[in-house]
Amino acid sequence: MNLTVHESSLYLHKLGQKLKPHRNVEIVLAPNLLALQSLSVQVERKLFKLAAQNLYWKDEGAFTGEVSAHQLRGIASYAIIGHSERRHIFGEHDKDVRNKVQAAVRNSITPILCVGETAHERAAKETSGVLHDQIVGGLANLTAEEVAGMVIAYEPVWAIGTGDNALPADVEQAVHVIRRQIEHLYGRDAAHNVRVIYGGSVSSQNAASYLNTVGVDGLLPGGSSLKLDEFKAIVDAAFEAGKKQS
Ligand code: PGA
Repeated sequence: MNLTVHESSLYLHKLGQKLKPHRNVEIVLAPNLLALQSLSVQVERKLFKLAAQNLYWKDEGAFTGEVSAHQLRGIASYAIIGHSERRHIFGEHDKDVRNKVQAAVRNSITPILCVGETAHERAAKETSGVLHDQIVGGLANLTAEEVAGMVIAYEPVWAIGTGDNALPADVEQAVHVIRRQIEHLYGRDAAHNVRVIYGGSVSSQNAASYLNTVGVDGLLPGGSSLKLDEFKAIVDAAFEAGKKQS
């Protein structure tokens, strides 16, 4: 819930001036829902794609205050689903998350499914179990092809907005657990092709360490994305990491 519509528009304008199209790097902006529509008119689609931060899973009807995947179709290419703030502040459960993932897929919107353990679960060494449950719960009823086309964001709850980013070795381990679980459910191709990204206090200082971590395909910066130069430095780090890999 950052930036007004006007501020978002100005931000996009300035970002567009700073960034040039980067081969091998996809930049997805997730403004608030109100700004999303006007940015969809303004955005240069060669440079950026847009994501919704949330959606409702019924296509239409009497659901006051909600916006559906069906209504977002053509406006957002991606939707963040099951962000820890949705789960913990707004009480979303795996069933809601699953319904939303399916609604996104049904409406040609690529889901960015967020998973991750709380500090309490981490201390109790429950990370693998939590990831397992969130993957099983969030991905039910999809085909292997649909899973292969989506994005999973590993976002440890304790790392979000705290400055306490996860160690790359721990991210590597968590991403391994996620891909292994997907392989078990949907087969090797889906596990290989699904994009897995890391989020949680990502900055220009630590971006490269994750981008060079085995199994990590990208980043989900929150606070850092609100600062133009910081965000540009993260995109540059992704471009550099992409060059190394290709
Ligand atoms: P952060 O946010 O980068 O500020 O920790 C990440 C998020 O909101 O998912």
